[in-house]
Amino acid sequence: MPSAETLQHVVNEAHARFKDDKSGKNADYIPYLASVPSNLFGVVIVTADGRVFSAGDVGYSFSIQSCSKVFTLAQVMQQSGEEAVLMKIGVEPTGMPFNSVTALGMHDNKAINPLVNCGAMASVSMVKAGNAAERWDKILAFQSKFAGEQLKLIDEVYKSEADTNWRNRGMASILYNNENLFCDPLEACDVYTKQCSIGVTAKQLAVMGATLANGGVNPITKERCIDAKHVPRVLAVMTMAGFYDESGQWAYRTGLPAKTGVGGGIFAVVPGRMAIVGFSPPVNEAGNSIRATKAINYINNELNLNLFGSTR
Ligand code: DON
Repeated sequence: MPSAETLQHVVNEAHARFKDDKSGKNADYIPYLASVPSNLFGVVIVTADGRVFSAGDVGYSFSIQSCSKVFTLAQVMQQSGEEAVLMKIGVEPTGMPFNSVTALGMHDNKAINPLVNCGAMASVSMVKAGNAAERWDKILAFQSKFAGEQLKLIDEVYKSEADTNWRNRGMASILYNNENLFCDPLEACDVYTKQCSIGVTAKQLAVMGATLANGGVNPITKERCIDAKHVPRVLAVMTMAGFYDESGQWAYRTGLPAKTGVGGGIFAVVPGRMAIVGFSPPVNEAGNSIRATKAINYINNELNLNLFGSTR
């Protein structure tokens, strides 16, 4: 494990190198996201033993968006086992955008992967709950346990996305029509929309990632969030599909499981060692934060973290 000085140094350096990078633009298909200041940029490492190294805007609460999909996947695995995820959702990367209707059509109207919108809504529908309120409460509680703090909905994000999520409602209905979504489809879509509107700071997201790095135990609260045996499966899905249609390129460059969200957050997990988070709103065509991608890539290279071996 690198020294504390080294970890703080690479975090500072990653922030300094990319803070003036103005490429990309905020996602605007969810109107609220366009209004978040584009210059926000934070970088954090949380180690598997709970130490925190940060630079920049790591206290700003942004919407977790697709990063939440990982933890609902974990929740479903914990409740129903990994075979259920494989059979009812699937784990193949789609190679297509996160909201692709084409991908759905090409795969017999099955969700395909828990980290694209269809699969994430199917995951939400598999959380055991009697009604929408209970489903939401269980998801929020599960994600909060990973963060080690009570997380909250950003109401404006939820309203903005709920007013404009026709595409997701359509895809949920198609899944349900084909028995590939397991509760009322509009309920699944609405709870999924709330899940994406959970506010997290870069630091909280890094603690969530560090919980996966630490075999499912939150390194700050010491609470077990998921059985250790499920963690490698979750990380495998992240490695294959965490960057949507750029997942291959990400794995090729970094060799690390990671997940992005259109709110500008990205977390990467180095099993047994740490989570690395970058947060900055401007995203590229695939919906991945540009500064955050560069910052994590930089830290990965500096610390030689690639899971498949040294690239030096
Ligand atoms: O359903 C959506 O489109 C958003 N709530 C989440 C998409 C997302 O974060 C894709 N990420 N890169």
